[in-house]
Amino acid sequence: MKPRLLVARRLFPDVLAPLAAAYELDVHDSDQPLPPAPLAARLQGCWGLLGSGTERVDAALLAACPTLQAVALVTVGFNNLDLAACRARGLRLSNAPGVLTEATADFGLALLLAAARRVGEGERFVRAGQWQGWAIDQFAGAPVAGTTLGVVGMGRIGTAIARRARHGFGMRIVYSQRSASPEAEALQAQHLPLPDLLRQADHVVVMVPYGPDTHHLIGASELALMKPSATLVNLARGGVVDDAALAAALQQGRLAAAGLDVFEGEPAVHPALLACPNAVLTPHIASSTLPTRRAMVQLAVDNLLAWAEGRPGPTPI
Ligand code: DGY
Repeated sequence: MKPRLLVARRLFPDVLAPLAAAYELDVHDSDQPLPPAPLAARLQGCWGLLGSGTERVDAALLAACPTLQAVALVTVGFNNLDLAACRARGLRLSNAPGVLTEATADFGLALLLAAARRVGEGERFVRAGQWQGWAIDQFAGAPVAGTTLGVVGMGRIGTAIARRARHGFGMRIVYSQRSASPEAEALQAQHLPLPDLLRQADHVVVMVPYGPDTHHLIGASELALMKPSATLVNLARGGVVDDAALAAALQQGRLAAAGLDVFEGEPAVHPALLACPNAVLTPHIASSTLPTRRAMVQLAVDNLLAWAEGRPGPTPI
């Protein structure tokens, strides 16, 4: 008998197809994630879960699902996993690093440029039929080329953003993370403590994993260190930035602009942010090109097929 695998989201059927040779598939063919209790019910008798990064796998779920042995994620972020509980069960775990780096970095630049140069405001203005003609300071934004970019979290994606900023826009790069990054040297990037980065940068991109140590890493006191002309971009996870504090800074003119692809409690968005014209808001789509999203699913499939053959998968957590 084949082991049973729950696919917790609508994904790409043709990419999933090879799994049928190794697993008995149960596909939750929906864009709505399964809440904890229905997820636990659906996982009864399952050996594996192919998850989308939104299904919380913690001690309570594991206690309710004694047959679960493996979780493969289509996302690089795995803050939905309680690693201690998963390790205690000896779960096989995988995520999808690498394949989304370039698409996500492209989107980081898109959000930075859109927010700093007020693309959203200008676009809404034209669509609303409010444009009466050219004016000398109309929607004057902040310069980007030649300025200083602060990268909070110089991992794969942070480095890819820094590379674009350095080579494409001639920006000076400063970055913060626990240890200095070897790749950063090639970009003449300067390693700084976070408060110094926030004071010096003209624009800041946040790209750190979410966890207890990065919850509200950027809160009211950190925002207060930033230049009033600066832009903050969050591509990491909701919760790394304190959205209420950010909205207050944007509303009070203590920060010029923000570009946000992730939100605390998403898909809900803090109402104060929705009311900020100087925030560009997108629905967690930084990695969303079709080739990239297919490659993310393929990596989860590759891990599951390897496990079915008793081999280690290509991208274990
Ligand atoms: C990830 O992979 O963690 C992204 O946030 C999903 O696109």
